[in-house]
Amino acid sequence: MIVLGIESSCDETAASVIEDGRRICSNVIASQVKTHAPFGGVVPELASREHLALISTVVASALDQAEIELKNIDGIAVTHGPGLIGSLLVGVSFAKSLAMTAGKPIVGVNHIEGHIYSVVFENPPVEYPALALVVSGGHTTLFFIPEEGRYAAIGRTRDDAAGEAFDKVAKLLGLGYPGGPVIDRLARQGDAEAAKLVFSIPRMDSPNLDFSFSGLKTAVLRYVRENRIAPVKEGEPPRQEIIDLVASFQEKVIRSLLSRLKEAARRHRPKTVILAGGVACNSALRLSVTEENFHAPVYYPSPLLTTDNAAMIAAAGHRRLAEGENDGLNFIARATMKIDNFALEGYEAPRKARYKT
Ligand code: KG4
Ligand code: ZN
Repeated sequence: MIVLGIESSCDETAASVIEDGRRICSNVIASQVKTHAPFGGVVPELASREHLALISTVVASALDQAEIELKNIDGIAVTHGPGLIGSLLVGVSFAKSLAMTAGKPIVGVNHIEGHIYSVVFENPPVEYPALALVVSGGHTTLFFIPEEGRYAAIGRTRDDAAGEAFDKVAKLLGLGYPGGPVIDRLARQGDAEAAKLVFSIPRMDSPNLDFSFSGLKTAVLRYVRENRIAPVKEGEPPRQEIIDLVASFQEKVIRSLLSRLKEAARRHRPKTVILAGGVACNSALRLSVTEENFHAPVYYPSPLLTTDNAAMIAAAGHRRLAEGENDGLNFIARATMKIDNFALEGYEAPRKARYKT
């Protein structure tokens, strides 16, 4: 089965053709980083406009590179949430018109579920039960997955997402956008012990394995003020005090992610541990999870498949299309959307999703 995937939930316009759910025929990603970098973050209005300008070329390139025509595709999978609503609407509308013109089945895919499927291309098949930690710019959630397609959120961030914390700290220190890759690179030359960050995390009194990053972010801000650290000026190399500070920050984020993942593995004895989402690109985090013994293999994708892409969306859509599902033309895009479809005993039930359309 050949699936065309389309992704436009944030600042990447992407399209991909995959075969049999696991083989990538093409994977085209047009990044808007240059557009948003001067603003230190994604500007939703600009993102929607750019998606509109790029989407037809990106989809045409994906088909071209896969050497396939639309009429020979078996189905279309498109991200319909969560994400920036204006951006999502571009991908969804475009995908629906393709489905209508070519008479193909189409499914709306949850972006987070897409990230979980990003590991299927380069690893052995996922064995269940599995644990998945999705760490991106908008999400930090830990899922227990007893079987394919069933998700219980057993931990989520109470404030900032991990990637958001990377981006905010980088902005504060004048390191540019997006912050994750810069901090990752700098931290390798830093001494995490040299900058002492003092922070308290809110009491985690529920059984859930929740995360919190805003206290750490505030600790960085306080450290900067107390030590009179000036942000890096454009064109200047970062000073050692900044390099040590980001090394310390990154180390704390990784420690927090790992401690929850270890506890989840201890409680649930998974057969596979999945690490996905943009922050999973982080080299120190990858190294730490590899060195950790979860009594199960840890799968994460190569960097190009870790940040937003459409191959992962096609893979998540493939499962449903292969079962004959078709969402038709009536499904909508939603800024807020969850994938957890059951609650695990012993954990707090998921809060009701707030749907913003
Ligand atoms: O998955 P993604 O591309 O988009 C969302 O769905 O949010 O993740 C983007 C996030 C950004 O916050 C970026 O700073 C972070 O992933 N990121 C990293 C690294 N590469 C990207 N964070 C830490 N280390 C990295 N190497
Ligand atoms: Zn993402």
